[in-house]
Parts: sequence; structure tokens; C-alpha cells
Amino acid sequence: MAKFLFVTDLDNTLVGDDNALSRLNDRLQQTRQEHGTKIVYATGRSPILYQELKNAKNLLEPDALILSVGTEIYLDGTGTPDSEWSEKLSSGWNRDVVVAKTTHFPELVPQPDSEQRPFKVSFLLQQEAAERILPQLELELQESGLDVKLIYSSGIDLDIVPRRSDKGQAVQFLRQKWKFVAEQTVVCGDSGNDIALFAVGVARGIIVGNARPELLQWHNEHPADSRYLATNFCAGGILEGLKHFGFL
Ligand code: GLC
Ligand code: MG
Repeated sequence: MAKFLFVTDLDNTLVGDDNALSRLNDRLQQTRQEHGTKIVYATGRSPILYQELKNAKNLLEPDALILSVGTEIYLDGTGTPDSEWSEKLSSGWNRDVVVAKTTHFPELVPQPDSEQRPFKVSFLLQQEAAERILPQLELELQESGLDVKLIYSSGIDLDIVPRRSDKGQAVQFLRQKWKFVAEQTVVCGDSGNDIALFAVGVARGIIVGNARPELLQWHNEHPADSRYLATNFCAGGILEGLKHFGFL
């Protein structure tokens, strides 16, 4: 066994089955101590909602945190987002213009204030309206000269973020910083905002058995041997995948 970079989404991926989570945590803790494996959480949650989940589920302290769908990276437990990453996201981004453009769409219901972040504007959008609204909104944002990306997850959550930012690109940043090759990196997820994790030059991916249709559809359209679709749900699926790839 050797060290690896372990990256996981939280809601309905790492978290969702308490018994399996506790088994997985034991194994992760062990491989971190013995081999120097790094543990990273990559979530759409803001710092406030992350802290709530961390306390409620007694999550292991990660080595780095990717919050707000990849727009914020926190290293070494500091409360300040990495400034090198923030600077990369600044060009082509104007939060006020994004907000102004979205007001034309009554179907977009703003998420709570805690989830509105410097590089992330988030709404609730019903699935039925999404197919109609998303292409229109994307066009309007492009026409305003903004370099942004729309990320739609779980048939309800819409995040608008800088184009250079998503969970996958944040993982690339950490891989380069910590010098992990793709083969020593494994990413885990269940929904739309995790597609970027699987899409960016990462060798090993675990899709948990309870994955959402949008991720399964993408997986079917972009098959890859380096990606494993687990049978078990949540942390149980992660354990299954880590064994499949020989990480545990
Ligand atoms: C989390 C965030 C929310 C975001 C969603 C999908 O639930 O709290 O703001 O829209 O993830 O990325
Ligand atoms: Mg999830």
C-alpha cells in the first residue's frame, strides 16, 4: 500500500450511511497515519454549512477543503481561502453583473445568503424549468462578456461560478501543489457538481451506487476504465471502489 490523494464529495457520497462512514473513517485514518495519504473534501457547501455537517457527522479533519463548488480552497485548517486560487478566479468574473442578469428569470429562486459566496451565485431551479432556462441564461451571461459556467445538480441546485473554477480544477491545483500523479489520486461523487471531478485528467474515479441520473448519464456518455461505478451506496460505495482500485 502507498499513499494516495483521496478526494470526496460530502452529501450523499461520503455522508449518507453512518455505519459505512465509520468503517471508512477508520480505514482512512489508518492509511493517513501509515502512508501519508491526504484527505480532501470537495463540496458545494459554504464554510457555514460545511461546519454544520462536520460537527453533526463528526467528520475526520481533512488535509484540505474545497468548498463552494471549487471556488474556495482551504489548506491546513486555516479559515482563509487560498489567495493564489482566488486570484486565478478573479478575471472575467463580476458578481454584480451575474446577479443583475439573473433577475430577469423569475424561475430562479435565490438560495440562502450563506450560500452566496464571492465567486458563487446560487439558486434553486426546478428540473422542469431548467431545460428551458439554462441555455437562455448561459447565452445572456456570455453576451455580457462574463467568463462563467453554470453547474446544475440534483435536479434543483444551480451554481454560477467563474469558468476556471470547479471541483475538478481545484483538485488539479492541489495535485500540483502536493505532487500526486493521476494514478495516485482518487475522486468520489454522486451528482452534477461532481462531473468536473471525474472529467479533469484524474485517473481513478468512484461513482457511488446511489448516484443521481445527471452523473450516470454523463458517465454512460463518457465511459472510462479508470472510473468505477459502485453497487453500494455512499461510504459503502467508496470502500468498495477503494478496494477495487487496490488503494485499501
Ligand atoms: C450545496 C450548496 C449549494 C449548492 C449545491 C450544489 O448544497 O450548499 O449552494 O448549490 O451544493 O453545488
Ligand atoms: Mg453530493
